[in-house]
Amino acid sequence: MSIDFTGRTALITGASSGLGAEFARRLAARGSHLVLVARRGALLEQQGATLRREFGITVTTIAADLGQPRIGRTLRDDLAARNISISTLINNAGFATYNPFIEEDADRIAAEIQLDVATLVDLAHAFLPDLLADGTGALVNVASTAAFQPLPRMAVYGASKAFVLNFTQAIAYENRDSGLKILALCPGATRTEFFDVVGTDAAAVGSFQTPEQVVTTALHALDRRKTPAYVVSGTGNRLSTSMASLAPRSVATALAGRMLAHDTTGSGR
Ligand SMILES: NC(=O)c1ccc[n+]([C@@H]2O[C@H](COP(=O)([O-])OP(=O)(O)OC[C@H]3O[C@@H](n4cnc5c(N)ncnc54)[C@H](OP(=O)(O)O)[C@@H]3O)[C@@H](O)[C@H]2O)c1
Repeated sequence: MSIDFTGRTALITGASSGLGAEFARRLAARGSHLVLVARRGALLEQQGATLRREFGITVTTIAADLGQPRIGRTLRDDLAARNISISTLINNAGFATYNPFIEEDADRIAAEIQLDVATLVDLAHAFLPDLLADGTGALVNVASTAAFQPLPRMAVYGASKAFVLNFTQAIAYENRDSGLKILALCPGATRTEFFDVVGTDAAAVGSFQTPEQVVTTALHALDRRKTPAYVVSGTGNRLSTSMASLAPRSVATALAGRMLAHDTTGSGR
């Protein structure tokens, strides 16, 4: 059954660009009020102004660094103080690093694990009671095709997204009898600011999708009567993740290792 977002509120992390910004636009078009969170507050405000004007919805913007331990409670208390309760959480903020593990900066990978794993879990934990009580919306955790095999040169990122996928499937099962739809979204390479942050397109495997295509995949999955616990965006990505799941892990690792070894820009190592 399609989700009726009208008049309800969705919280989107990492909404200042890429997939988060696209989720904001698409949910706004379906009548959802929004809470947008990211560090670049000015960008969020610009985007919020456009969405308010175009769709007549309420948009609350919060400029915050989500890379802090236990940010979920703080955010929930902040929203409660503004009398905002949410029906949908799009747990999207994240970034990747690309280097042999030995060369990674310790602070950078700690921040990566904090944002991509610990904060995602903390936000899910802080808001799940509200989402379940409402029971009309969705919890979307953005994973990746990176979740389906170990990723040499992106060891921390691949493992983080494998965590997100497993974590999401587990809580989707735990809450399968609730009205809440819980989905891990697994995009492959997508044209966003992601690879600018990574610093190289060498981290991209397969052909690029647009944020529109990826969010369309997510919304189709959410609108199904029985929403699956995860969805891979793009036919090619569905094929490659199925093959990675079926192949011996050593083979899948070696294949990924070979694909991620080519730095076409010269900026990665
Ligand atoms: N693009 C791809 O190829 C791809 C593929 C698979 C999965 N994904 C996943 O998709 C998600 C969205 O990424 P994207 O592709 O849309 O990349 P993006 O354009 O770089 O967007 C990342 C978003 O996260 C926010 N963010 C980063 N660090 C943050 C922090 N410490 N606190 C708060 N917000 C923070 C950024 O906003 P600020 O800079 O304003 O804080 C931005 O809005 C990520 O989880 C990523 O791992 C992406």
